[in-house]
Amino acid sequence: MEQRKLGSTGPTVSALGLGCMGMSEVYGPADRGESIATIHAALDAGITLVDTGDFYAMGHNEMLVREALQDVPRDKVQISVKFGALRGPAGEFTGMDTRPAATRNFLAYSLQRLGTDYIDIYRPARLDPNIPIEETIGAIADLVKAGYIRHIGLSEVGSDTIRRAHAVHPIADLQIEYSLIERGIERDILTTCRELGIGITAYGVLARGLISGHWSKDAGKTGKDYRLMTPRFQGSNLDANLALVEQLRAIAAEIGATPAQVAIAWVAAQGKEIVPLVGARTRNRLSEALGAAKVTLTPAHLAVLAKAFPPDVAAGTRYAAEQMAHLDSEKPATA
Ligand SMILES: NC(=O)c1ccc[n+]([C@@H]2O[C@H](COP(=O)([O-])OP(=O)(O)OC[C@H]3O[C@@H](n4cnc5c(N)ncnc54)[C@H](OP(=O)(O)O)[C@@H]3O)[C@@H](O)[C@H]2O)c1
Repeated sequence: MEQRKLGSTGPTVSALGLGCMGMSEVYGPADRGESIATIHAALDAGITLVDTGDFYAMGHNEMLVREALQDVPRDKVQISVKFGALRGPAGEFTGMDTRPAATRNFLAYSLQRLGTDYIDIYRPARLDPNIPIEETIGAIADLVKAGYIRHIGLSEVGSDTIRRAHAVHPIADLQIEYSLIERGIERDILTTCRELGIGITAYGVLARGLISGHWSKDAGKTGKDYRLMTPRFQGSNLDANLALVEQLRAIAAEIGATPAQVAIAWVAAQGKEIVPLVGARTRNRLSEALGAAKVTLTPAHLAVLAKAFPPDVAAGTRYAAEQMAHLDSEKPATA
């Protein structure tokens, strides 16, 4: 698999990463054995970047990743971990805590759950509104010096925060949503990251399955699927977004690929510093996603996609209003 370097100081990783969140929660029931088999299949195919979060099902996801990686030499895989999101016993999200003491505490538990003595990329999941980013990044930088962390990343923050964080310690990558139907990063964040030499790990490249070509009006109704609570998956928004998918399906058929493969290839084509994270939970979906690496989008294909998918084409916001309000990445740059 092609390799890409995350930013000027970050690690060199596989051009596609595997996001493990859906293997523990969020997208309805997942099969533990199939999840582990999917992680193994990803590694066999050359994927080295594995993304998790300590709050994904309250540690469940990290323990799943540990089980999958137990026989894998540590230096053959790069583990990216998000931290700082607080949850209650019923799973509810209750805020962020990225104070230095909390950061050290979260890391200690993650190392234990993952069964490793270092994490490749460690990042606060969201901006903590109560703590200056400099304090959080300073605390992580101390943990880098102590050898527990290799690189520092960010998640869903805007240009001003990126600049402040990067001034404390070089940032390897920003993890942020980016897809044919989610283009907020193009307003100023991508330019800021390029200027500072910061890579991008793009999530939601299939808009959480919405533009994969496998979603339908009745999908997600059999389990506890968080997507049904988000605006893009609801009512007339869903109708409009599924109509867009039909356009993508037609373009993909011309290209000789599936809609998911074209959507992933489109993100990968936006820059060599961008690594799409795919949220495959089964070997079948993974196999389809891996096919994106063989899709070469010509300037003519890209022009057709640009016409069909202008910025802001999606109906509905990517998160519900309350979560949108917590996204530092939605704030315009002031500098
Ligand atoms: N930093 C952040 O704020 C943040 C937020 C969300 C996620 N993430 C990370 O990014 C990763 C990926 O995000 P995501 O899961 O939202 O992204 P995604 O790849 O856009 O969506 C994944 C969903 O798409 C469906 N799908 C359909 N066809 C697929 C195919 N060929 N390959 C892969 N998936 C296919 C899968 O659903 P079925 O299995 O049901 O078919 C899967 O649940 C997560 O696992 C997590 O590690 C980060």
